[in-house]
Amino acid sequence: MTENLTNTVSTSEMPVSESPQDIAPVTDTSRLKLALQEKLKRGININGEFHLPCVPSMLDDYLKLLSDFLKLVGQNLGNPETENLKTLLGNALAAGFKQSPHATLIVSYFPANSQTGLSGGITIDTKIQVQSMADKYHSWPQIRPEPLFGSYPDAKVMEIVAELGEPKQSPILDVGAGPGRNSLPLARLGHPVDAIELTPIFAEKLSATATAENLPVTVTQGDVLDPLLRMKTYRYKLAIATEVLSHFRHPEQVRLFLGKMSDSVLSGGFILFSTFLAVEGYEPDDMAKQMSEQSWSYLITKQELETAIEGLPLEIISNESVIEYEQKHLPKAAWPPTTWFISWASGRDLFPIQETPPIELRWILVKRF
Ligand SMILES: C[S@@+](CC[C@H](N)C(=O)[O-])C[C@H]1O[C@@H](n2cnc3c(N)ncnc32)[C@H](O)[C@@H]1O
Repeated sequence: MTENLTNTVSTSEMPVSESPQDIAPVTDTSRLKLALQEKLKRGININGEFHLPCVPSMLDDYLKLLSDFLKLVGQNLGNPETENLKTLLGNALAAGFKQSPHATLIVSYFPANSQTGLSGGITIDTKIQVQSMADKYHSWPQIRPEPLFGSYPDAKVMEIVAELGEPKQSPILDVGAGPGRNSLPLARLGHPVDAIELTPIFAEKLSATATAENLPVTVTQGDVLDPLLRMKTYRYKLAIATEVLSHFRHPEQVRLFLGKMSDSVLSGGFILFSTFLAVEGYEPDDMAKQMSEQSWSYLITKQELETAIEGLPLEIISNESVIEYEQKHLPKAAWPPTTWFISWASGRDLFPIQETPPIELRWILVKRF
């Protein structure tokens, strides 16, 4: 989806020097060269686009990038023009980011007047291209190797499931089930599985596989955070959300998710989810938080997690590194689950550094009392 904002800024036109008519011809070659260069500028046309991730905290960096670029092509922005450009970019970044962390700000530039080329100033236009998470996932099967999220169920999921008792009597809720990496093996063990999945192609694929194998899986296509998406209450022995909270955007959504899960899970049952947690002593700033949403690595602090759980009938039982746990417990052939998994789960998709990043994907196991 693409949409336009009120969106134009022009650099000022260059003053054109007026030569008096009634004096002797100019023969100074340097003076004439300047005139020729000025004439040439009228014949130079440029146009192009910057595609900038809609991250509001990058406003000053983007403003510098564009100002430096304009300077390079002979367009010096004055103070009012810089302020206008800043307002234009700021509004567009905020509007795009609000709609999706995967929105792109497209800044296009072209001569303000095609007859006067670079000497007539440059016009800057902005438009926002919004892509939702589901839009992005929709293209995955074309651009990524199958299986998209790995061939094996999570070892941590299987460890907890082994404690639940008779599978037929142990219904499981799989939130953000994807194409069924966990749902399908759990249903094959005999567990009744209710799956909720936002991305239509994954919901359809999971449903089709379950039907083909006659498995006890019911699939609901929808957003778990949608207040109108009602779930069965007090039914499940286990609710899982693996690699899903990395798509959330606010701590309030973590609380809403946990609230809904605590309604759905039986007393004594469990909720297992993975989430990116900041290490003790690291306080993420706005840029890190916004970019974590954009990098599918939405991060929360331990404090935010504790606040999200406060007052709910839930207790955190364990908090472990997903990489350490899965590497240790998955069969050798299953590690790593995908080519991108280690970089992503170690926090390096957000912080591309050799050293240890200050966030990582953690298994959080919660008990419903
Ligand atoms: C990385 S995939 C993981 C799929 C599966 N849980 C697994 O571990 O293999 C994340 C999935 O969560 C789904 N998802 C993200 N946010 C969701 C939400 N609010 N409600 C339902 N599904 C969601 C996405 O559509 C996607 O299929």
